[in-house]
Amino acid sequence: MIDKIYFAPLEDVTGFRFRNLYNSMFSGVDIFFNPFISAVCREGRHKKREEEDVSPENNRDLKLIPQILTNDPGDFLNTAAWLIDMGYKEINLNLGCPSKDVAAKKRGSGFLSVPDRLDRFFEEVFNGLRAAGHEDISISVKTRTGYRDTGNMGRLIEIFNRYPLSEVTVHPRLGRDFYRGEPDMEAFKRFYEEIRHPLVYNGDIAAVEDINEIGNKYPGVSAVMIGRGLIGNPALAREYKGGEPLNPEEYRLFFRNIYKIYRKELNADKYALDKMKELWGWAKDNPMFRDSHRAIRSLLRAKNPAEYEYAKQMVFRTVISYKSKP
Ligand SMILES: Cc1cc2nc3c(=O)[nH]c(=O)nc-3n(C[C@H](O)[C@H](O)[C@H](O)COP(=O)(O)O)c2cc1C
Repeated sequence: MIDKIYFAPLEDVTGFRFRNLYNSMFSGVDIFFNPFISAVCREGRHKKREEEDVSPENNRDLKLIPQILTNDPGDFLNTAAWLIDMGYKEINLNLGCPSKDVAAKKRGSGFLSVPDRLDRFFEEVFNGLRAAGHEDISISVKTRTGYRDTGNMGRLIEIFNRYPLSEVTVHPRLGRDFYRGEPDMEAFKRFYEEIRHPLVYNGDIAAVEDINEIGNKYPGVSAVMIGRGLIGNPALAREYKGGEPLNPEEYRLFFRNIYKIYRKELNADKYALDKMKELWGWAKDNPMFRDSHRAIRSLLRAKNPAEYEYAKQMVFRTVISYKSKP
């Protein structure tokens, strides 16, 4: 039985304003993860946007686990110390980012292609935490199954098992797959059978039945992490936990408020519009929109805020007519 739902980090989508909005409108998500922070050395400074995103005042009403991207143990320890000072007790390492630039530097999913280096990284990180008296701090990872192929998977599992990780979240795709193709459930099964840490499933969950299926097939998995599925159905976690399914009016309000946030955060209407189109790309498969495909196509072609607003009204009008059908 899956009892916990995590909101996956989505860079440029799930910043602190988005998280607070989501959390004020929908229940059911237990833990949020921030889009990754790039670790910096002792002389370095974190970006202002990253500082704001993890600052405890900006995350007061929700549980956040901060995520770090790096392959340098010194930088990890430095950024971890900064987060620990703010009161965080768990830190997540990103071993999944598929971006070519990131992977070429052997960070994110690229780090999975150099397992010996990953092994030394963990050794230095856990030694460093111990030396600083931070044995109480939990380190978890969010990983893919490899970068180019699954050839390193056995070795990666063996490395993960040797360190006191608090949790391993697996998104069963390769780095070079980005988000294409089906999740590799054979690879996930291998993690399920061999990993000795609490295991979390992540990837392509879009409906309550998908969560139940993971719970039934892998009863040892206690949590699922969901990203795009919570944009496509923001009430999914609530519904899974026995609450009301999504209603069109709250979806309309949610998207209206996200658009306001992006217009503020991104400082240019064009970027905000592009971001909303990305979200609509994930939302369009919600059965609520089954009569709205033509209106959604116009929305995705909108060239300015006025065209977007008009198309959005048409989308929600067709939802209402669908609702009123016998
Ligand atoms: C636009 C976008 C941004 C993402 N940013 C991050 C990130 O900052 N850190 C991370 O670990 N994963 C990131 N991911 C991956 C997601 O957290 C998640 O693993 C992936 O979308 C699969 O889950 P889903 O099918 O439930 O969305 C991102 C994915 C997308 C589509």
